[in-house]
Amino acid sequence: MFSAQMNFAGRTALVTGGASGIGFAVARQLAELGAKIAIADVNIDGANSAADKLEGAQVMVVQVDVRDPDDCANMVDAVVAEYGKLDILVHSAGVGIEKSFLQTTAEEWQRLIDIDLSGTFYCAQAAARHMVKNGYGRIVNLASTAGIRGGTGRTAYGAAKGGVIALTKVMAVELAEYGITANALAPGAIETELVARMHSAETRRVYRAGIPLDRYGTPDETAFCAVFLASEQAGYITGHILGIDGGFLAAGIMHKT
Ligand SMILES: NC(=O)c1ccc[n+]([C@@H]2O[C@H](COP(=O)([O-])OP(=O)(O)OC[C@H]3O[C@@H](n4cnc5c(N)ncnc54)[C@H](O)[C@@H]3O)[C@@H](O)[C@H]2O)c1
Repeated sequence: MFSAQMNFAGRTALVTGGASGIGFAVARQLAELGAKIAIADVNIDGANSAADKLEGAQVMVVQVDVRDPDDCANMVDAVVAEYGKLDILVHSAGVGIEKSFLQTTAEEWQRLIDIDLSGTFYCAQAAARHMVKNGYGRIVNLASTAGIRGGTGRTAYGAAKGGVIALTKVMAVELAEYGITANALAPGAIETELVARMHSAETRRVYRAGIPLDRYGTPDETAFCAVFLASEQAGYITGHILGIDGGFLAAGIMHKT
């Protein structure tokens, strides 16, 4: 019998980048719905204080640098050792940069590819290798509207996120036979610490002009979409890239009154 009520009791969820922003909001929402949570982040102090905020929930903390494939495999092993299995991965660890195509250095390019693209591959592969044993899994990657549309200052970031989108689609195809779905969120402008660091006042002004809803989104509005895709009920959605962008991807020329 299908129930529209999302319930994560008995489910285990690993949230990378869970110390901050969208990842923390995902961890909190999944915890409220009954999941056992693992918060993984390079910032261990941030991860510990995030865990402290999830009162009443079952939470563990793991330090990980997603650039390191061994670290990612150890992170998943630690979750399986503690909780017995891994049902859900929401991979929200990531960094941003606003730098023009002509100015981007090889080091900046490599850093973004290492963290945002390779990190997604290492975490998702490590998680999927456990999920295949149980014949069940939900993987939600964090892409971006920058991986779909061009924009100034999005050379390394946009290329990495475009890679996340292609990777997610391949994962969806190859992991389907194991009962694992793989989807990605494509947030637009969401008010988090990443955006506080990345968006100048001028970027904010120009960005809002292209958003029909005329505002930045919230971490909770974004996290809710990850929770939906991580639910049992979303089992027929895979390989999907879900824009959470106030209409940014839909928009062309706009007159705002
Ligand atoms: N905020 C937005 O507008 C927006 C838009 C589109 C996509 N995204 C994506 O959403 C994800 C989360 O972004 P956010 O806005 O919540 O950012 P955030 O900075 O608030 O959180 C990101 C977290 O990732 C962690 N992290 C960074 N590098 C890491 C590494 N090497 N290993 C492990 N953890 C690492 C940070 O410590 C931090 O806790 C990112 O992938 C970002 O690119 C954000």
